[in-house]
Amino acid sequence: MQFQTRPEILTEHVRKGIVIAGGLGSRVYPMTVSTSKCLLPVYSKPMVYYPVGVLMLAGIREILLICHPRDRDSYELLFGDGSRWGMSLSYLEQRDPRGGIAEAFLIGADFIGSESCALALGDNVFIGSRLPIIMRRAAETVDGAMVFATQVADPRRYGIVTFDSAGRPNGIEEKPENPRSDWAVTGLYFYDNQVIELASRLKPSDRGELEISDVNQAYLDAGRLRVEKLSRGIAWYDAGTPDSLFEAAIHVRTIERNQRHSVLVPEEIAFDNGWINQRQLIRLSQHCPNSDYARYLARLASEDGSEGIAYTE
Ligand code: G1P
Repeated sequence: MQFQTRPEILTEHVRKGIVIAGGLGSRVYPMTVSTSKCLLPVYSKPMVYYPVGVLMLAGIREILLICHPRDRDSYELLFGDGSRWGMSLSYLEQRDPRGGIAEAFLIGADFIGSESCALALGDNVFIGSRLPIIMRRAAETVDGAMVFATQVADPRRYGIVTFDSAGRPNGIEEKPENPRSDWAVTGLYFYDNQVIELASRLKPSDRGELEISDVNQAYLDAGRLRVEKLSRGIAWYDAGTPDSLFEAAIHVRTIERNQRHSVLVPEEIAFDNGWINQRQLIRLSQHCPNSDYARYLARLASEDGSEGIAYTE
């Protein structure tokens, strides 16, 4: 498919992000009978904090959270309107998770407007000290689409990207039975505004979903897909099974108990981005002051002027 690059779809910096948390979490049943999978803990914080934190590292301040109607109140209770983190958070519902990930662009079309947009899956946890740099770069300018790939042990579980001998992406397949590559496409995507039009043209796949892999394939067909291979220092978990949930939690725990810094704390990122000031951070640290989380925020506030998050090399 060939489509024109319209000048108005090139924006300087991606300002908007969608987090999709629409599933009912059947793979982690019965933990999800009464709550959303993305609200389950990954050691020190709810799972959804991690993708929200990653978008914040990219400098994205306006986030739309898409969830199942059952869970909307819980998400609103957790994040509110985002103003205490100096952000804007809004909510929309995906009535049937079988609509698929790509339905996010139809549900969120008004939110995106005429801008580019990032999408993060609510159950994807990225960990690594280079994340701030990678995210900042990714959000600088989006012309076409940009996705991140990483090598995995079981490619059948994911969207897979293949490369030609020159290292250029030449195919995307969703959960292939006989994978031709072990490079999985992770659940973090940057798209220009064309994504809305592309998503509206998609047909449901054999499993009945609007597939994000089909969106990526359409960009690839038009020669407008960039795939960045995540460097070895970045760990990635699709925390959608009991094992991966547990492994992600262990990873976060190991870092948080061995280092002075916690992993993807939204309040810290908001503070480092200059979206909240020291007084606001102190106020946030006064919720449940007997928790390790609040003590961490209090320490950050008292160390104002310390190293902060490294956005440059
Ligand atoms: C989804 C996407 C898949 C991607 C994966 C990353 O799979 O469809 O392309 O590799 O997320 O977590 P799902 O989690 O819906 O099975």
